[in-house]
Amino acid sequence: MSQKKMMYHQMNSQLKALLEDCDLPLTAMANTCALIYSTLPDLNWAGFYLMHHGELVLGPFQGKIACMRIAVGKGVCGTAVKTGSIQRVDDVHLFPGHIACDSASASEIVLPLTASGALYGVLDIDSPILSRFDAEDEEGLKETCHLLMTSMDWTGGILP
Ligand code: SME
Repeated sequence: MSQKKMMYHQMNSQLKALLEDCDLPLTAMANTCALIYSTLPDLNWAGFYLMHHGELVLGPFQGKIACMRIAVGKGVCGTAVKTGSIQRVDDVHLFPGHIACDSASASEIVLPLTASGALYGVLDIDSPILSRFDAEDEEGLKETCHLLMTSMDWTGGILP
């Protein structure tokens, strides 16, 4: 197993244990982004944007203050929602409509959060290093999102 795979295996095992004690999505997301931010090297932001009345709003995160609303279809996060697919961006400066919350960001990965076919938001992770996220990161983070979305009931909603 590569060192990176091992790191994701350990992080996701820790997340699984944390989630056993938690059935509140917002609380779970707060610890999930803290775990990601303190485990993965070379990040400058890790957090969640949540679907709320048809747009994305800022959820729990670690890093500098960030924009609070993102329209569906805008930026990398809005594109992940519009397409329903993971966005792995090697150079954010080349991504049309990228929303620069922190000028230090150079690359990012955004994963849609779905449960029972419904989309609840995205996990957004930024790095100051170009091409920071590869296929192994994508696999590891897909598992992170899967654990988060399957370990509790999301149908009660997240925000008022
Ligand atoms: N990078 C995002 C905006 C959010 S900040 O990175 C925290 C985007 O373009 O969707």
